[in-house]
Amino acid sequence: MATRRNSHYRPFPSLIACVVLLLHYSSAQFDHFKLVLTWPHSFCLVYPGKCHRTPLPLNFTIHGLWPDKQKGKTSPCKKYPVSPLNDKNLELRLEESWPDLRRDSKLGFSTIFWKEQWDKHGSCAWPLYNYEKYFLKALEFKDKFDVLGHLVQDSLGPGTSPTVSRNLVNKTISQATTGIPILKCPSNYLTEVVICFKPTGVVVVACPQPPKDPCPNENVNFP
Ligand SMILES: *[C@@H]1O[C@H](CO)[C@@H](O)[C@H](O)[C@H]1NC(C)=O
Ligand SMILES: *[C@@H]1O[C@H](CO)[C@@H](O)[C@H](O)[C@H]1NC(C)=O
Repeated sequence: MATRRNSHYRPFPSLIACVVLLLHYSSAQFDHFKLVLTWPHSFCLVYPGKCHRTPLPLNFTIHGLWPDKQKGKTSPCKKYPVSPLNDKNLELRLEESWPDLRRDSKLGFSTIFWKEQWDKHGSCAWPLYNYEKYFLKALEFKDKFDVLGHLVQDSLGPGTSPTVSRNLVNKTISQATTGIPILKCPSNYLTEVVICFKPTGVVVVACPQPPKDPCPNENVNFP
């Protein structure tokens, strides 16, 4: 082994530089993505003044895709200039999966909401993800799991009984995703489900649990 030290062994220096660069970008700013899903009916009951969407989607929708760190905070995201998506097909898919519940669907695509989420959160994933790739990633994560379908299958579907067990909801989603979600239940309504992913690929990780449980009661409303 010692003879190696002075040999001419040079393993692909440019490849190593690339990997180092990638590791730098993927680890320095964030180490996981939080896919934050909203249950629209809960959102509208908890925040009636904010809800202006008709008809209300009958599925979880994306609130955001947030680059985050297991420990500590990501630094404020830089606002990188972006050009509009200009891809009708992508916009249609986003409008279905990532609608702005604060605006009526008659007002057209939720472009302002998407840009807001990119400015506030998404741009922290730059340059690993540019504007378009970020939204494609969000859709890929969202479509990886049918959270609603899994809950319905385990008799935890919305509207079936006044309340569901948050422990069972956690169990169903943990099993389906092989990660641990964060559940958020403002006013005791199951309003958001957070699934955490590695920065690249589509691999689920356990979400770091917030110090104060955002869904503290065992029985929660799921309208
Ligand atoms: C809800 O969304 C999931 C994930 O995108 C999808 O697989 C499922 O088919 C949708 N369910 C309904 C009822 O639209
Ligand atoms: C959710 O379920 C996972 C897996 O069973 C468990 O490790 C975790 O402690 C649960 N979280 C809560 C807050 O109950």
